[in-house]
Amino acid sequence: MRINKYLAECGLASRRASEQIITAGRVKLNGKIVTDLATDVSEDDFVTVDGKRAQPIHKHIYLMLNKPKGYITSTNDEKGRKTVMDLLDKKFANKRIFPIGRLDYDTEGLLLLTTDGDLCNRISHPRNDISKTYVAKIENEVSEEELNKLRGGVILDGVKTKRCRITVLEFDGKLTRLEVVISEGRNRQVRRMFESINREVVFLKRVGVGELKLGGLGRGECRELKPNEIDYLKKV
Ligand code: URA
Repeated sequence: MRINKYLAECGLASRRASEQIITAGRVKLNGKIVTDLATDVSEDDFVTVDGKRAQPIHKHIYLMLNKPKGYITSTNDEKGRKTVMDLLDKKFANKRIFPIGRLDYDTEGLLLLTTDGDLCNRISHPRNDISKTYVAKIENEVSEEELNKLRGGVILDGVKTKRCRITVLEFDGKLTRLEVVISEGRNRQVRRMFESINREVVFLKRVGVGELKLGGLGRGECRELKPNEIDYLKKV
């Protein structure tokens, strides 16, 4: 990139003001003073201003996507299926963005994506018990007895699931709509919990991760997280 843009990305000055710094002979590229504004610089170059190293500030990207069903949570797919990356704005192409955790092909809702590898590892680590809130639909009525089994924990792959919160939102005569809040992120956990009591989840949507809520974000839409949301994630 052009040297004035590079300096601007280091947070030193605007592009315009950077031009003046360059023409004043205050900038060295790999040890040699540069005054030519047409000079190109890459991140491997060693750039100094008044003798001090200038390095670009890498601002991480934090996104919330409302994943529709029919997309896989992956950065690419050998089988050529649609991935969540296909839903991101073109301006995010070529950025090293990856999803935080996973949603199944048939599950929709809140998916976080970021370039911040540390945050991604921390949030998706099995020890991190950030809550995940889902809306699930099950055919017919589901009894309190059945729900109590799930609330107390059921065995999946030989390990009991942690206690969870389940609230009946509505029964419309055909389907029961439930809110399920779990604090683990095991593979296909909600679907498999219901399978363990011989019930099938026919619709599953994640509506919250910790304090972050999907809100009115439309299906397939993506937005950048607000500063307070990023601060929150960095603290959990
Ligand atoms: N539980 C599931 O069964 N599927 C998901 O995608 C997320 C949680």
